[in-house]
Amino acid sequence: MNNRLYIFDTTLRDGEQVPGCQLNTVEKIQVAKALESLGVDVIEAGFPVSSPGDFNSVVEISKAVTWPTICALTRAVEKDIEVAAEALKYAKRGRIHTGIGTSDYHIKYKFNSTREEIIERAVAAVSYAKRFVEDVQFYAEDAGRTDNEYLARVIEAVIKAGATVVNIPDTTGYCLPAEFGAKIKYLVENVNGIDKVTIATHCHNDLGMATANTIEGIINGARQAEVTINGIGERAGNTSLEEVAMIFKSHKDLGISTNINTPKIYNTSRMVSSLMNMPVQPNKAIVGRNAFAHSSGIHQDGVLKNRESYEIIDPKDIGLDENSIVLTARSGRAALKHRLHILGIELDKDGLDKAYESFLKLADRKKDINDDDIMMLVGKHINKDARIKLDYLQVTSGVGLQSVASVRLDIASEKFEACASGNGPVDAAILAIKQIIHRQMIVKEFLIQAITKGSNDVGKVHMTVEYDGNSYYGFSANTDIVAASAEAFINAINKFVH
Ligand code: KIV
Ligand code: ZN
Repeated sequence: MNNRLYIFDTTLRDGEQVPGCQLNTVEKIQVAKALESLGVDVIEAGFPVSSPGDFNSVVEISKAVTWPTICALTRAVEKDIEVAAEALKYAKRGRIHTGIGTSDYHIKYKFNSTREEIIERAVAAVSYAKRFVEDVQFYAEDAGRTDNEYLARVIEAVIKAGATVVNIPDTTGYCLPAEFGAKIKYLVENVNGIDKVTIATHCHNDLGMATANTIEGIINGARQAEVTINGIGERAGNTSLEEVAMIFKSHKDLGISTNINTPKIYNTSRMVSSLMNMPVQPNKAIVGRNAFAHSSGIHQDGVLKNRESYEIIDPKDIGLDENSIVLTARSGRAALKHRLHILGIELDKDGLDKAYESFLKLADRKKDINDDDIMMLVGKHINKDARIKLDYLQVTSGVGLQSVASVRLDIASEKFEACASGNGPVDAAILAIKQIIHRQMIVKEFLIQAITKGSNDVGKVHMTVEYDGNSYYGFSANTDIVAASAEAFINAINKFVH
């Protein structure tokens, strides 16, 4: 059996489905290019029929990326497949990923159908996709809870219809590692034609077993792992790319290799975390802030004598080089440009000038500027075309004082001012903005997070604003958390006031 494991990254599809993680097309291209230079084999770029934005992203990523196969998701529906094929027309190598639920839960409750009818629909979808592209991947949604004997019949039928890759998702993250490994083994041993196609794993982390299940699947014959950067994804997330890549790099005894250029892992992880506003938990394997921090005296002593006494991975193998992380107020434009380049961001002269100006302002208030801070600065410039901008904010607040905010907004280059008092400075600022915007808006969720640590830190604000029955997500980052809150509110408003 071939021992090369193909890495299929679905950060831009399964990862991007997470509320609050949505990226615009420019940001998706940045991530796709970073994935290309990381060495992933397949990029799942979106679900084209789901929205014009997703369609457009698949088109633009197909144009921007050269080596990886670009994959587009569909349901087992002809219209979905036609739209996916259209979105993939610029891909150098395009793949349609079509499929249907195969567990009895899906057959009975989602489709009100029968096992035989589901096989017919699966075959019809694969055959239809084959009219447009040669490379067709089939997913058996909820395969984790699908009876193995029936799953084998579905998989055999879609292989006969021309599927080149068969994806076995543990959609609900229910399987135990041994059970998932046995499922793959069962398919290897019982499906005619399985040796002609690639078996893929697609595991979710609801019980914290996504990576373990993926590894068991591969040990038992799967040769494509579907993963996301930082394990980002629906609910508890997907299998994380960095864990799978480093497991096979560390366990040479397993005899499996990937094409991942592991020293690019750390920067890719930071980029995705920043662009998607999704912090990495400090103790996350491989890329968490504490993954290589030895705090106990015994460990520090051991590592100083010989790194391998307590570290199984050399931090440099994932690109973690402490010296490259920190920029300060004394860093020049070239240093910022270099850092942005490492993070996969190329700005034109004007963009760089603006980013550098903001960088210096931030560096005055914050001693060490890290990658997250830089991504925030650049993220702000990406939003420079917003219709409504915060032009001025002054807040008076304190113990025993009524909080009062004066706000000036720039709306399509016209200035509007308002003043309001509120229950705390953020409330005052939001009430003042509401006076200018005049809509029935309700702040539903409001979360402030520090990026690293220290009282001079940049605060990230995530906000959900309800308007006219819909929820809109807003985000901003600023060392001033009242300003970040006002900006996040305005960021959400920009999504429905045109
Ligand atoms: O989790 C899942 O089953 C999926 C499929 C659409 C592949 O994401
Ligand atoms: Zn999934």
